[in-house]
Amino acid sequence: MVKEIVCVTLATEITKMYGEITKLYVDLYKYITISVRLLESKESTESQNEIKSGNMIGKLQPICPIEGRFGARGQAEFPLRALQFKRGLLHEFRKGNVSKDQVRLHDLVQQLPKAIIIGVRKGGTRALLEMLNLHPAVVKASQEIHFFDNDENYAKGIEWYRKKMPFSYPQQITIEKSPAYFITEEVPERIYKMNSSIKLLIIVREPTTRAISDYTQVLEGKERKNKTYYKFEKLAIDPNTCEVNTKYKAVRTSIYTKHLERWLKYFPIEQFHIVDGDRLITEPLPELQLVEKFLNLPPRISQYNLYFNATRGFYCLRFNIIFNKCLAGSKGRIHPEVDPSVITKLRKFFHPFNQKFYQITGRTLNWP
Ligand code: A3P
Repeated sequence: MVKEIVCVTLATEITKMYGEITKLYVDLYKYITISVRLLESKESTESQNEIKSGNMIGKLQPICPIEGRFGARGQAEFPLRALQFKRGLLHEFRKGNVSKDQVRLHDLVQQLPKAIIIGVRKGGTRALLEMLNLHPAVVKASQEIHFFDNDENYAKGIEWYRKKMPFSYPQQITIEKSPAYFITEEVPERIYKMNSSIKLLIIVREPTTRAISDYTQVLEGKERKNKTYYKFEKLAIDPNTCEVNTKYKAVRTSIYTKHLERWLKYFPIEQFHIVDGDRLITEPLPELQLVEKFLNLPPRISQYNLYFNATRGFYCLRFNIIFNKCLAGSKGRIHPEVDPSVITKLRKFFHPFNQKFYQITGRTLNWP
């Protein structure tokens, strides 16, 4: 009895302490956000004129609109504090909590994307988008918008699409990701019609691993609905011919070169950047630095922004001393075991397509 009372009292105390810590944490965030707003409103009137006259380079205020940091050459310094505060402020903009005054004061706009992560499904598209969003000049569209691959959405027109974009400073770039774009027939032409010079990011993983990841996602969906599903082996190998089943979507999606060739009818290869999704898992920074270069952004994402979380088994994101986050649990699922002979067969099947993919893109990925 006494033990029970002690346990309950202890538990209550711990809960209280936890509550206090959380409150402190929230208060600290509020304090920072309010300070930023005060600084902003104080500086805004004088700095707006300076920004407009282009006098901001080299005279950076602690908080200032991104446009001032780019200047005419587009490569001026980003103060680190902008990166630190970005999340809090932009989070509000994204949620639509931004007031009309703030929109006017900061010249906030909803811009069409200057770059799109077009695929590949299960390649690491979410991780790539979230990691790029660490950059102060990048603003992500949080949801997959499915504008170009969904006829119903596409029929709503480009203004509908633009209104789905987050608020940003004019000099920032908006990025969206919808992995279905890569494999959908109509998409290249539709994107071309919107912006023929858009930058296109494709994140790929070793094709067999990607196919198994794709299968795992579908399997999990079935299990959630208490439904049974075929084994991967049964879907990936045609039982009549014992050859790879090219009708299986997870296999077809991994034939990257076939899809890329369709895109190349509209865009030159220079407008694509291939991200190594396997390397993004183990060594994200160098991959992100290559993307920064491709997007002509000053290098701002650093090792500080990425830390390995042993519990998750993945790199997570650090925005500042307060905010860090890992991707949702649906990213980084445990794959079912697959018969090694099926894996060998698939790898042999993908090999020639991979060679062609390396040749076209100029990026060799050492897949088996
Ligand atoms: P798995 O679930 O097969 O491991 P997408 O976002 O395109 O659906 O891709 C999901 C994949 O992103 C995951 O596949 C995972 O391996 C990969 N990934 C890359 N970096 C990650 C990260 N930092 N955290 C979680 N998953 C990451």
